[in-house]
Amino acid sequence: MKIQVGVVTVSDRASRGLYDDLGGPALVRAAQGYGWTVAGESLVPDEKRDIQRAIRELTARGCHLILTTGGTGVALRDITPEAVREIALRELPGFGEVMRAESMKITHNAILSRSLAAVVDRTLVLCLPGKPSGAVECLGFVVKAIPHCLEVLQEVPTSC
Ligand code: MTE
Repeated sequence: MKIQVGVVTVSDRASRGLYDDLGGPALVRAAQGYGWTVAGESLVPDEKRDIQRAIRELTARGCHLILTTGGTGVALRDITPEAVREIALRELPGFGEVMRAESMKITHNAILSRSLAAVVDRTLVLCLPGKPSGAVECLGFVVKAIPHCLEVLQEVPTSC
């Protein structure tokens, strides 16, 4: 299956133009490196409604996978997991477990990330940390499970 991806950067400061969004472009490059097509990108502040609207727009555009970066930590404004859970059908805890366990081998601060995967309609939403290298690393730790997950969500016949 040809995988269409949406990328959402969640950042108050980048959305106000106070600094450049580096996380979104890093994920776009990573997605393209995996042979996926990036169908849309969005940059939103750490506001539930904006995050949810961006995800809805990308699912409506037919994205099979949405990668978010930012807002997974412990700062008071970090709200990405709550925003996604509110519109999700179900969560896939294994993704967050693996991302944190593998990231702990790189930085002890990985324990602070509430990275997660959830299903919104038929789309897999993966919430990654805000640091560009961290987002790309976390995607890399779970990437092999993604094609099969998307096939099941799209009801493409699979071997298992
Ligand atoms: N995971 C990996 N693989 N590499 C990283 O550099 N940074 C951590 C963590 N996860 C990091 C990582 C840090 S410093 C924080 S604060 C949390 O992700 C949450 O980041 P966020 O609030 O920007 O989403």
